[in-house]
Amino acid sequence: MTTSILKLLLLIFSILSPVVLSKYRLPFQPNALVLPVTKDTATALHVTNIHKGTPLVATPLLVDLNNKFLWFNCEKNYTSATYQFPLCHSTQCARVGNHYCHKCSAPARPGCHNDTCGVMNTNPLTHWNVLGELGQDSVSIQVGRGQNSGLYVDVPQFIFSCAPSRLLGEALPTDVVGVAGLGHNSVSIPHQLASHFGFRPKFGLCLTSSNTRNGVIFFGKGPYELDPGMSTVSRPIVGYTPITIGHRGGYHIQVTAISINNKPLPFDMSSFFRNKRGSFVKALISTTTPYTSLHHSIFMATTKFFADQLSWAPQIQPPISPFGVCFNSSYISGSWMGPAAPSINLVLRNGNVSWTISGANSLVLARPNIYCLGFVDGGIRPRDPIVIGSYQLENNLLEFDLARSRLGFSNSLLLKRTSCATFNFTSTP
Ligand SMILES: *[C@@H]1O[C@H](CO)[C@@H](O)[C@H](O)[C@H]1NC(C)=O
Ligand SMILES: *[C@@H]1O[C@H](CO)[C@@H](O)[C@H](O)[C@H]1NC(C)=O
Ligand SMILES: *[C@@H]1O[C@H](CO)[C@@H](O)[C@H](O)[C@H]1NC(C)=O
Ligand SMILES: *[C@@H]1O[C@H](CO)[C@@H](O)[C@H](O)[C@H]1NC(C)=O
Ligand SMILES: *[C@@H]1O[C@H](CO)[C@@H](O)[C@H](O)[C@H]1NC(C)=O
Repeated sequence: MTTSILKLLLLIFSILSPVVLSKYRLPFQPNALVLPVTKDTATALHVTNIHKGTPLVATPLLVDLNNKFLWFNCEKNYTSATYQFPLCHSTQCARVGNHYCHKCSAPARPGCHNDTCGVMNTNPLTHWNVLGELGQDSVSIQVGRGQNSGLYVDVPQFIFSCAPSRLLGEALPTDVVGVAGLGHNSVSIPHQLASHFGFRPKFGLCLTSSNTRNGVIFFGKGPYELDPGMSTVSRPIVGYTPITIGHRGGYHIQVTAISINNKPLPFDMSSFFRNKRGSFVKALISTTTPYTSLHHSIFMATTKFFADQLSWAPQIQPPISPFGVCFNSSYISGSWMGPAAPSINLVLRNGNVSWTISGANSLVLARPNIYCLGFVDGGIRPRDPIVIGSYQLENNLLEFDLARSRLGFSNSLLLKRTSCATFNFTSTP
């Protein structure tokens, strides 16, 4: 009986054209899913789009590696027929960890019910925290590989948080109504997709440098392929390093030294952290920090050493804020790999290969004809001594393997003559 229904379904689907097919969401187990990511021109932040609710509505969300939740503003325009609100003490509530029994005196609407699960949501740009109501609704995500790539699958009861409008603030890109949290939490997007589809908790992040072509986030089984069929780039990961989880849930890696042009930066990392297994600096990887931010003393050492290694290019005085050193671009040659700048290597703990920041990720065209080193001064008491920002992540594939607590990195894909913008979202078999 079931088999004949399946056969009938298969027959129907094989008759429909791919264009019609892409509107249907099929009952099958995909092994990889993808989300498109655009770069916002005004803020240089990266935005994804998730389809949610009944009927499905496209929801632009800020990509945040270190946020626990998918949260969005439910006060405006959220009128889904399938919204549910788990009550406090329910299993969904237990799954998110810390929560409160939420009450709401305003008229009932998504985000405002009594005795639901109240969870704290964070705006990563303003650092505001506001209580939101835990909600569930269906979301629909595109299949990324294999026979059904290009089609969409539904997750019927995806858990997220309904935040009030006032959490959004001014700093978010226009149109963005919330945050797509990829952090360390049982209800963050990678963990929910993994438990729903039986994937390993693993995802790949590839941010684009282009304002017109999409980057991509992969979920599920690897290897994550940007240009399927191009054998040289089908497995771009060059090295791995352990990931540790910070006390606010962010992803850290451990930097044991920095070198520029293969010369070690004269800087003692042990002034930051030393344990039995050596000294290192914890570096947070952040998609919501546009440029890498360094503790003042690391910043000063790096800026000076970089300028010494690029001594043939005249400096522009004063440097353009927020950067520490800028150069006349006429003296720096360029190619499809980006400007020819001294390479900056982050030497990683237990890593057999360094993370190399090459010209396309180090020099920023801050004004016409002026390149600046794309690092900013984090002051003398930053929360994290190194925050690797999104400009330095662009056109690098990062593979977060949460089951094995390790990060795989590719270094600049431009060196392999590809980029994060080569994933074809419209290809169907
Ligand atoms: C709400 O929807 C209306 C009509 O679709 C649209 O014009 C308006 O911009 C939306 N408001 C927000 C805040 O998204
Ligand atoms: C929540 O309960 C309070 C007090 O019983 C009531 O005034 C309020 O209308 C209720 N809120 C909702 C959204 O039902
Ligand atoms: C470095 O790690 C990669 C990935 O695990 C591995 O393929 C490669 O063989 C390693 N190289 C060395 C020199 O150990
Ligand atoms: C850069 O150098 C060129 C050639 O010497 C010069 O013409 C130009 O004015 C300089 N640009 C700036 C911004 O200083
Ligand atoms: C993506 O794939 C589709 C279908 O295979 C093809 O028509 C389209 O040209 C491709 N787009 C790019 C940018 O390669």
